Amino acid sequence: MLAAATALILPASAAAPKGEPFGTANGKPVEVFTLTNHKGLKLRAMTYGAIVLSLETPDRDGKSADVVLGYKTLDEYIKDTPYFGAVVGRVGNRIAKGKFTLDDKTYTLALNNDPGGIKCSLHGGLKGFDKVVWQGEGVEKDGVQGVKFHYLSKDGEEGYPGNLDVTVIYWLTDDNEWKIDYSATTDKATPVNVTQHSYFNLKGEGNGDILDHEITFKASRFTPVDAGLIPTGRLQPVEGTPFDFTTPHKVGERVNAEDEQLKFGGGYDHNWVLDNQSGGLALAAVVHEPTTGRTMEILTTEPGLQFYCGNFLDGQLTGKSGKPYNHRNALVFETQHYPDSPNQPTFPSIILKPGKTMKSTTVYRFGLKSGK
Ligand code: BGC
Repeated sequence: MLAAATALILPASAAAPKGEPFGTANGKPVEVFTLTNHKGLKLRAMTYGAIVLSLETPDRDGKSADVVLGYKTLDEYIKDTPYFGAVVGRVGNRIAKGKFTLDDKTYTLALNNDPGGIKCSLHGGLKGFDKVVWQGEGVEKDGVQGVKFHYLSKDGEEGYPGNLDVTVIYWLTDDNEWKIDYSATTDKATPVNVTQHSYFNLKGEGNGDILDHEITFKASRFTPVDAGLIPTGRLQPVEGTPFDFTTPHKVGERVNAEDEQLKFGGGYDHNWVLDNQSGGLALAAVVHEPTTGRTMEILTTEPGLQFYCGNFLDGQLTGKSGKPYNHRNALVFETQHYPDSPNQPTFPSIILKPGKTMKSTTVYRFGLKSGK
């Protein structure tokens, strides 16, 4: 009797979401899952690339907007995307010359990126985790909706060793958090650096540039790069540079400053060394958009944060509401280990060994700030 009464008053979003058809990719059916919380947030994600299609959050007047860039249809994602909303891996970010050596064996990866005319491997290769169909399952825990994505990356896929079993779970909590739990196991030692590649614009996707977004990073160092955007290996203090976000600064304030690092990246496209290196969940960044009052806090267990401010967006791609995505119309915050880790002996290791489980958590928490 009590159970029946409880069931009656449970809100609709307490049930595990069901997958709905969203087309076909790689000859396989693709499904979309819609998560809602009890505070007006809504997140849609599909099994192709574990891509987040939309994320709606209210502004200070209670008006909702979709704060991530993306397309309306699956075919547009298949055709051409700069990793909108996707999970990237097996190794997110760059590997110099597409080569690394592990246990005396050299592995060669596809060269799919060439910043400054210098070739490297980017975001897992030609067909990385962003371009495969994951298995999707709606889940629910304590009234919180989630979607669990699973993918088995076969031994040798994109040149990487070992069968890598990867699970990524997205949750949408009543604390207005989009929480991501990553885990992976392997049967041969392999590098793993999986991250999320959503493009945020807290004014709403398609609503112009992000130069007035104010950001703070809990990071007093970053990893400077060469002309090919590969880290030099140094951990450089941000103090006195345009990379110092230890106090809040607008993105546009210094993004065009005379600075070699900014020149290499065409703006911010760098990895910050987070102050928290404990492996526990800690605040990494705070983002504030003054006109809507929206805020986003990023918490992670990862030691690094790649911040990319949409320097390569050039108006060629049209988004889901029919508006072009122009230069610096979005911010990407990739919680991760440092770029080119397999070739950088002084960086925290990304090598996963058989018998061990890689576990990582990142939270994007949405809020509001009054005033401008
Ligand atoms: C990288 C950029 C790259 C972009 C691809 C980001 O993670 O830092 O350099 O252009 O991904 O869309």
